[in-house]
Amino acid sequence: GSVCLAYSGGLDTSIILAWLIEQGYDVVCFCADVGQEEDFERAKEKAVKIGAKKCYVEDLKKEFIEEQCWTAIQCNAVYENVYLLGTSLARPVIARKQIEIAKKEGCIAVSHGCTGKGNDQVRFELAFYALQPSIKVIAPWRDPTFYERFAGRAALLDYAAEKGIPVTSTKAAPWSMDENLAHCSYEAGILEDPDITPPEHMWKLTIDPMKAPDKPEDFTLEFSKGIPTKLTMEEGGKKKTITDAVELFLAVNAIAKRNGVGRIDIVENRFIGIKSRGCYETPGLTCLRSAHIDLEGLTLDREVRALRDQFVTFNYSKILYNGLYFSPEREFLSSSITASQIHINGTVRCRAYKGTFAVLGRSSSSEKLYDMSESSMDEIGDFAPSETGGFIGVQAIRLKKYGSMKSEAGER
Ligand code: ARG
Ligand code: SIN
Repeated sequence: GSVCLAYSGGLDTSIILAWLIEQGYDVVCFCADVGQEEDFERAKEKAVKIGAKKCYVEDLKKEFIEEQCWTAIQCNAVYENVYLLGTSLARPVIARKQIEIAKKEGCIAVSHGCTGKGNDQVRFELAFYALQPSIKVIAPWRDPTFYERFAGRAALLDYAAEKGIPVTSTKAAPWSMDENLAHCSYEAGILEDPDITPPEHMWKLTIDPMKAPDKPEDFTLEFSKGIPTKLTMEEGGKKKTITDAVELFLAVNAIAKRNGVGRIDIVENRFIGIKSRGCYETPGLTCLRSAHIDLEGLTLDREVRALRDQFVTFNYSKILYNGLYFSPEREFLSSSITASQIHINGTVRCRAYKGTFAVLGRSSSSEKLYDMSESSMDEIGDFAPSETGGFIGVQAIRLKKYGSMKSEAGER
């Protein structure tokens, strides 16, 4: 039978490819282009040279941005207060394409190179089973015949030599990375000691905030139903406007990169129960999400916001982190996200400067929840100040009772 392998072109998945062939499988490789820096032509040649029957390279950038990143921005998604879910957001799109290819090629199984301790194995496999319930999954890093044989890098390199797998001479980075349009993650290796500060040269998607330009960079973001639809920026002294989703995302990434915006370093709780230290840089998404949060201040109803904050943001983020994208609960939350964003229309003027993102101002021509004269301290408008005395009086009923009780008990 044949297997569809999620292939990166790196050492691990190349070894897995050769090993699957050795086990008697025909292998179809699949490289997902989600915007990571990669020579896909070289990866494809390498896969075929090792013995893959075919190697698909699929450009998933547009769906990654439009389906996953836009929704994450619409609900201000964040895991454990800081992680913007860069890796988690890409997995559903990759897994879905892999199943599509597996079906087209008549594969009986799919395979991946995730370790047995992480979140990614869970995300991939829950997606595989949800999308094709009959599929078989081959996870070599959980199979003792594989991991006992390839314990340590030396064993991997010996096998590579034996199978004629080209190994790039560049020394492997002392940490593991996962990159896409939204972010780059760094975990494991020397980062496993949570008290070790990562070396400056580790970061690849942002410059050191301390070396960022002394002049701030201003730009404008327009949102429609909570989705970024237009970026206006300056380039070479000229005004430039971008509306294409992927182009817009790339341009905000570039602004954030050169101003050092979007680095974080956390110890997080993986789904399987292990704590893990991760460093992430999420340049553009950091700015887009913050601008979106700001615009909601102007345009979102208070109670919709409160319900969304309490139930949707936390749970949508957790569902994505835990790999449950293809689930009824995610579908349910997605429709409430859409419903919450009908009025998030307007413009946010932004500034990136030495590692920080700031809002300079916001406006909306269509939304009327904010009323300057009503909010004004200098004007009475339609508002009757005499009525708020009653409002406070009623709110105070409970507190007066509670206060009397406390003072009777000698506590006040
Ligand atoms: N800890 C992050 C997450 O679970 C990043 C995972 C990075 N994945 C990887 N294969 N290096 O989303
Ligand atoms: C892995 O274990 O493959 C990477 C880390 C993770 O999935 O959390």
